Amino acid sequence: MVELRDFTLADGRLLAAWIDGPVELMTWAGPTFDWPLNDRQLAEYAAESATPRRHTWMAWDPGSGEAVGHASVRVDAALASGRLGRVLVAPQARGRGYGAAMLERVLASAFGELDLERIDLGVFTHNTNAVRLYERLGFVCDRVLPDVEQVAGKSWSAMQMSLQRSAWSAGAAPG
Ligand SMILES: CC(C)(COP(=O)(O)OP(=O)(O)OC[C@H]1O[C@@H](n2cnc3c(N)ncnc32)[C@H](O)[C@@H]1OP(=O)(O)O)[C@@H](O)C(=O)NCCC(=O)NCCS
Repeated sequence: MVELRDFTLADGRLLAAWIDGPVELMTWAGPTFDWPLNDRQLAEYAAESATPRRHTWMAWDPGSGEAVGHASVRVDAALASGRLGRVLVAPQARGRGYGAAMLERVLASAFGELDLERIDLGVFTHNTNAVRLYERLGFVCDRVLPDVEQVAGKSWSAMQMSLQRSAWSAGAAPG
């Protein structure tokens, strides 16, 4: 249903077009980027993604040829651990299973080729679509960090979730 290819700077404008405003930018990537997501920030992100420290993908639908999603894993090689982030599905493509299909491929890469033992992530607690998606993939909540961001006059808390390779291979590996 989806294939992955490496993210490059040429994908930057498309990625930026999928993010409507500062609240969406914070929801997507936390405080890493400043609104608006401009060429300089995209170039830095693409440059980091070309190093072994970060692996970043575009997901595309081989049926239509269209790009439908984006995700990234920051690698801590010493700990054989990765931080999944920047998870995004094109607004017009949401609710059709692309998020799940994309992350299944990302996890297969992370636990397979990248040989990681553990993946963790942070997600805002009110982002229930994303939390449900991660839970379906086997992620469990380790802790909640209360009031980590103030956004549009509201306090946002962040859930820290993780998935061990042993749990993933026992429950989710295809075949
Ligand atoms: C969170 C996000 C990545 C989810 O992507 P998505 O493609 O909509 O996710 P999915 O389609 O796989 O799952 C969403 C729902 O659609 C349902 N769905 C509909 N059609 C489906 C199909 N054909 N196959 C599988 N699931 C389908 C899923 O069951 C799921 O329902 P549920 O949430 O009630 O359990 C997307 O909403 C997004 O980009 N949000 C903005 C950025 C963001 O919040 N990123 C996460 C930061 S931590």
